Amino acid sequence: METALTRLVGVRHPIVQTGMGWVAGPRLVAATANAGALGILASATMPLDRLREAIREVASRTDAPFGVNLRADAADAGDRVRIMIEEGVRVASFALAPSPELIAELKDAGIVVIPSVGARRHAEKVAAWGADAVIVQGGEGGGHTGEVATTVLLPQVVDAVRIPVVAAGGFFDGRGLVAALAYGAAGVAMGTRFLLTSDSTVPNAVKERYLAATVKDVTVTRAVDGLPHRMLRTELVASLENSGRTRALFQAVRRAAGYRKLSGTSWRRLLEDGRSLKHGKDLTWSQVLLAANTPMLLKSAMVDGRTDLGVMASGQVAGVIDDLPSCVELVERIMKEAEEVRARLRPSP
Ligand SMILES: Cc1cc2nc3c(=O)[nH]c(=O)nc-3n(C[C@H](O)[C@H](O)[C@H](O)COP(=O)(O)O)c2cc1C
Repeated sequence: METALTRLVGVRHPIVQTGMGWVAGPRLVAATANAGALGILASATMPLDRLREAIREVASRTDAPFGVNLRADAADAGDRVRIMIEEGVRVASFALAPSPELIAELKDAGIVVIPSVGARRHAEKVAAWGADAVIVQGGEGGGHTGEVATTVLLPQVVDAVRIPVVAAGGFFDGRGLVAALAYGAAGVAMGTRFLLTSDSTVPNAVKERYLAATVKDVTVTRAVDGLPHRMLRTELVASLENSGRTRALFQAVRRAAGYRKLSGTSWRRLLEDGRSLKHGKDLTWSQVLLAANTPMLLKSAMVDGRTDLGVMASGQVAGVIDDLPSCVELVERIMKEAEEVRARLRPSP
């Protein structure tokens, strides 16, 4: 199925596997790429040398194009971009709007720039700055998320910009893909659905928690890092929501120290990242520190399998997903269903 997205990035199917911290590693990205969709490596939780290694690992497993997701506000974003250019990465994806200078640098190097946005004005801004396409995530999507549902946000963004729009938040099957195309999108981007594949390295105990979840078990909380964050509702979430400010701050410092050690990030860099995160936003330092926790909390679940200690970021779709196909099976199933739906919608002669 050819769309503006498949033409732009050179993949066979208009499907994107998004960059999810600790989840979208080389194995998942390569499996997605080999299935004919666009896989995006999550880099924000990797030190620089690991990023280069991970890119090489994906490239050794596939000849298909793939992308790297990074935080535009990270103090070392420039170094990450340089590695991507040196290693020949085809697509750059951003969790927050990249600056016009960063977009220009990537485009000059021939890298396709696709930021993720959660509001029309952000889509308009990055389009004006030269982004090649946008991923627009509606409120039902997993991880950091907005309030506006995909069904309202998507047509709003499609009408506002002239670049290809990829729909995210709530997609898991072929019907959703056709619906997104009907809204004027050039494809769909999925996080939770790809986390729940046999190719994802997330421990089985964690996958089981997602599979068992109903739509009501997925909640949005600010208790983890001060920003609206969609995740499975667990005892940890309840305890963070109920703990007082002092205890929350104490926990934040402790976890930030752990993350610093694990990621090789210096305190100075952590504070610089914190300052840029705080910049222009109404966040207290305690919330900024809480934000530094998030990678650790995600890692506890996604790598260490600690369903009791970790944060399990999740879209509402976890409540309707009940299997673990491989990426090839998933992509083929979605494309087959999409073709069937399109045939059904065509008027009979
Ligand atoms: C476990 C998990 C981790 C995520 N981490 C990131 C991240 O590091 N960077 C990012 O831009 N988006 C992140 N997201 C958001 C996804 O990239 C994607 O936009 C979202 O999952 C789409 O909604 P869906 O889950 O309904 O498919 C994450 C989502 C999940 C479920």
